[in-house]
Amino acid sequence: MKKTVLVSGGAGFIGSHVTVELLEAGYDVVVADNFSNCDRTCFEGVKKITGREDLPLEVMDFCDLKAVKALFGKYHIDAVIHFAAFKAVGESVAKPLMYYKNNLESFLNVLEVAGAQPGGCNVLFSSSATVYGEPDVVPVTENTPRKPATSPYGNTKTMCEDILRDTVKASEGALKGILLRYFNPIGAHPSALIGELPRGVPNNLVPFITQTAIGKRECLNIFGNDYPTPDGTCQRDYIDIVDLARAHVYAVTRMMEGKMKKDCEVFNVGTGRPVSVLELVNAFEKVNGVKVPHKFAPRRPGDVTAIWADPTLANEEMGWKATRTVEETLKAAWAWECHLAQQKEAGSDDTGKATSLKDQILQAADKANEAISDAIDKVKEYSALSPEEKKAKQDEWNSKLTEAAEKASDSVKDIVDDIKEGADKLFKGKKD
Ligand code: UFG
Repeated sequence: MKKTVLVSGGAGFIGSHVTVELLEAGYDVVVADNFSNCDRTCFEGVKKITGREDLPLEVMDFCDLKAVKALFGKYHIDAVIHFAAFKAVGESVAKPLMYYKNNLESFLNVLEVAGAQPGGCNVLFSSSATVYGEPDVVPVTENTPRKPATSPYGNTKTMCEDILRDTVKASEGALKGILLRYFNPIGAHPSALIGELPRGVPNNLVPFITQTAIGKRECLNIFGNDYPTPDGTCQRDYIDIVDLARAHVYAVTRMMEGKMKKDCEVFNVGTGRPVSVLELVNAFEKVNGVKVPHKFAPRRPGDVTAIWADPTLANEEMGWKATRTVEETLKAAWAWECHLAQQKEAGSDDTGKATSLKDQILQAADKANEAISDAIDKVKEYSALSPEEKKAKQDEWNSKLTEAAEKASDSVKDIVDDIKEGADKLFKGKKD
C-alpha cells in the first residue's frame, strides 16, 4: 500500500518542491497550510507539474490542536514533514513572542498527535544551519557544536531540534525523527511553475537578485565587503531547491524502511561548496546574460562570515547528494522570475496568484505600514542613545538605519506598482 506523507506548510517554497518530489517518488501526500505567508500559486503549480488535480489540501493552522487531531483522524499519516513556521529573522527580533508561540506550539501539537498514533509515526523537522551560529571551523559537520542563535527565529530551530530529540527518546519507539539542517536553498523547479514568492521586499539574496535583474528593485545592496573571506563578501552553501527537496524523499524512505541507525538522526543538507555573495551575483549575470545593478553596503547585523556544509554523512548514510551546479540553479531562479513577470503581464489570475488585486494592494499596504513603523522605531531608538553609544556602534547603526529606510522605500514602491498594475488592467478593460 502507498504510504502517506503529511507536509505541513506544504504550499510554501520548500514545501511545494518537496511535495512534487514525494509524489514523483510514489508517495501519497496531504498538503496542509494556513496560507499565512504564501498564496496558492505554488500549490496550483504542484498540481500542474504532477498532474495531480486531486492532491488533498487542508487549510488549517497547526497551532490549533483540535484541527491537528482532526487531520490525523481523517488520514492515515505514515510520516510528517514539518515546515509550518514563520521564518523571517528580522521580524523574529521585533516580534519574539509571535515566533516562539507559532513555531513552538505548532510543532508541539504535531508531536503530541503524531506520538499518539497507533503504530507510531515518523517526523521530519526542517531545521537550519542557523543552529551552528558563527562556526569556528568550516565546513561544519553534524557534530560541530551548536551555538546560541542570534535571533528568536534561530532559537526556535534549536529548541524544536531538542524537543524532537527528547520526545522521540521518551516515546519508546513510537516516534522516529530526522532533523535536516538546510544551508541556503535557492532556485526553482525546472518547469518554472513553482519557486520562491517572497511577500514585499525580499530578505534573502537570490529573490533580491532576480527582482533587481527584472527591474522591480533598483539596486542590490551587498551587505559587507570587508569580511575575512577571499573577496570580502560572506560565503554560504547555496543548495538547489530540487536537490534539497530530494533529500526529504531519501530521509522519509530511510525512516519508512527502518534503515535508521538511531531513533533520531541529524543530517546537513548542503553541497559542501562555499560561494561568496559577489561570486553568486557575477555567476547570475553571466549565466543569464542580464545585469544586476549592485553596490556595497554596510554589513547586515547578525550575518555570519562564512558557513558551508560537510555533507559526507548525508551522502554516505542516506545515499543522497546534491547534483546541480550553481549555474543551473541560477538559470532556474531567473526562469521563475520571468515566468512571474509573464503572468503579471498577461494579467492572469488563473494560478491563484492573488485572490484579487484589492487583496494584493491591501497586503502591500500592511507591509509598508510595518516597514515604515519599523524605520521610525529604529530612528527613535537611535536618537535615544548617548553620544558615546552612537559613536561606539556607528557602523552598525548606519547599516540598520539604511536598511530600514530602504525597506520602507521599497515597500511603498510595491504599493505603487500594484496600483499601477490595477490602473493598467482597468484601462485595458475599457479599451477592449
Ligand atoms: N545579502 C546581501 N544582500 C541582500 C540579501 C542578502 O548581500 O539583499 C547577503 C547576506 O548578507 C548574506 C548572504 O547574502 O551574506 C545570504 O543571505 P540570505 O538572507 O539569503 O541568507 P542567510 O544566510 O542570511 O539566511 C539563511 C536562511 C535563514 C537562516 C540563516 C541562518 O535564509 O533562514 O541562513 O544561517 F536563518
